[in-house]
Amino acid sequence: MCGIVGYVGNRSAVEVLLKGLQRLEYRGYDSTGVAFQKGNRIEIEKSEGKLENIFKRFKEMDLNRAPVSTVGIGHTRWATHGKPTTQNAHPHRTGSIVLVHNGIIENYREIKEDLMKKGHEPQSETDSELFGFLVLEELKLKKSFIDAVRFAFQKLEGACSVVVMSENDPDTVIGIRNGSPLVAGIDSEGAIYLASDPQPLLDYTKKVVYLENGDMAIAKRSGLEFRDVITGKVVQRETIELQWSVEQIDKQGYPHFMLKEIYEQPTALIDTFNSNLDRIDPTSFPLAKHPGVDKLMNASELHLIACGTSYYASLVGKYWLEKYARVSTQVEFASEFRYRDPVLDDRALIVGVSQSGETADTLAVLRDLKKKGKATAAVSNVRGSTISRETDGAFFTSAGPEIGVAATKSFLTQMGIFLLWTGAFLERRKKGSADGLFEETVHLPHVLKNYLDDSSGIREKIKEAARATVTKKGFFFIGRGSSYPLALEGALKLKEIAYVHAEGYAAGELKHGPIAMIDENVVVIVLAPKDGWRDKTISNLEEVKARGAQIIGVGDPSDRHLQDLSHHFIPLPTLKNEDLNVFPLSIVVQLFSYELATLKGTDIDKPRNLAKSVTVE
Ligand code: F6R
Repeated sequence: MCGIVGYVGNRSAVEVLLKGLQRLEYRGYDSTGVAFQKGNRIEIEKSEGKLENIFKRFKEMDLNRAPVSTVGIGHTRWATHGKPTTQNAHPHRTGSIVLVHNGIIENYREIKEDLMKKGHEPQSETDSELFGFLVLEELKLKKSFIDAVRFAFQKLEGACSVVVMSENDPDTVIGIRNGSPLVAGIDSEGAIYLASDPQPLLDYTKKVVYLENGDMAIAKRSGLEFRDVITGKVVQRETIELQWSVEQIDKQGYPHFMLKEIYEQPTALIDTFNSNLDRIDPTSFPLAKHPGVDKLMNASELHLIACGTSYYASLVGKYWLEKYARVSTQVEFASEFRYRDPVLDDRALIVGVSQSGETADTLAVLRDLKKKGKATAAVSNVRGSTISRETDGAFFTSAGPEIGVAATKSFLTQMGIFLLWTGAFLERRKKGSADGLFEETVHLPHVLKNYLDDSSGIREKIKEAARATVTKKGFFFIGRGSSYPLALEGALKLKEIAYVHAEGYAAGELKHGPIAMIDENVVVIVLAPKDGWRDKTISNLEEVKARGAQIIGVGDPSDRHLQDLSHHFIPLPTLKNEDLNVFPLSIVVQLFSYELATLKGTDIDKPRNLAKSVTVE
């Protein structure tokens, strides 16, 4: 939610900021803006709508006026308080102070009332702007800029981060993190960057510091310093080397990041296996040793806590972990779990599953339970993310940066992690058996690579099915067993990027209500791979066929019956282990949503109303 950048260096600040915002646009795209120092003034350009509006503005601007400024801040917004208008866009100016903000100021009503009593008149509907007035109030008490920002920040309640400049303190950008992520980095020329995610820094440096909550980063020409926002004392922070490359955050010829990321899945899975397995260890499924592995292996039961797509990946994990490894596994939406009073075993492990590692609800659950003395772990795609740092042990998917707002490769690699866990439990506890599971697991990326290859013809078949159904009014994805979470994920993808009504249903549940909706205007995408559930799913399919639905069958190439029932048929690769069908199935549901959204002409990488990292509750 909201992307913020800050820069103090020798390049054109506007160029660095705009490029940085481009890298962060997936965090929010309701409005954008930049502020840059020009002499002892700070100028602001902002606009509602996407970043291209600001780009146009700078293009149209008389180049002589266009600043060769080398200090500035920028913002791309996902609106919480106030509509996505230019007025509400960041940066906000209050007197000499200019700021950008990400997150929520929970006590903004009290702050606003108090400020208005003191004669201040906010110009926007945002909570963010109020912070500027708080800084001005502190400056009235003759505090330095740094102290004024520090004390003003202490008045805020809620998770947020701010980046601030002052016309009276040129060449200085201050960032504070409390909850919402903020990273800082210095390039080889000594230029300093601040951003909500590391992506904008990758063009200049791979060495970054993830600020801790309560950290203040002070960027000046003389260098970068970290202080504690409460005490004002200097603190030392560890620099980490990013594993990501610039190529990974470019589209590389693909029309959308989402498509690129779908095609990256085989590599992402290999990388995830490689980074989580200790291949020197001769046992099968040898998880590379770290504190998370011990927590996992000692757990009496698992609680996988997640939101959205990460929740569906966790549901797949539950099937495997219970079936093969006999580990009781509960999966729950973080936003629900948080307000329940669940019964947990003393040795229960609470696992936050989160691509970004920043999702507010998931983080809140982990914090609450950690406080209560429970063991916690994380599955995340971002090293250095809050969730990965605050849990007792983190497992990382190595999907590389996922820029498309719709999760794809993170979903598939999260399933990859659960598969490794299942194998590791099997190995250690010897409670179940899965002949050849490891061999099939390591072979899986190759199967997926071939499946995605043009020669498989899969994309064409999916395109054809999308073309034939694009005008239909509703879509049901149905499946049983581990295909059921895939049905849920397929419906979520389609809603997200194609804006059509779609539902994921357990095939057996259709006749308990939703079958009433089935007619010739409805498409049923039936996920019926060759597995123990296939026959039952086919019976359910007969029921919808009789009611006139358009049917897209997804199953084994040898399944004549399914093909006869389907108007369109998408063959899956044949896998020995039926449980691994979820991997190619996920490619099918992703590509189908992608193709349908392409036909609808939606903004696939930045679907309306969404943001990649949901850092508000
Ligand atoms: C769907 C999607 C969201 C996220 C959800 C959780 O395509 O991207 O549903 O899966 O917001 O995000 P993380 O995994 O970052 O916690």
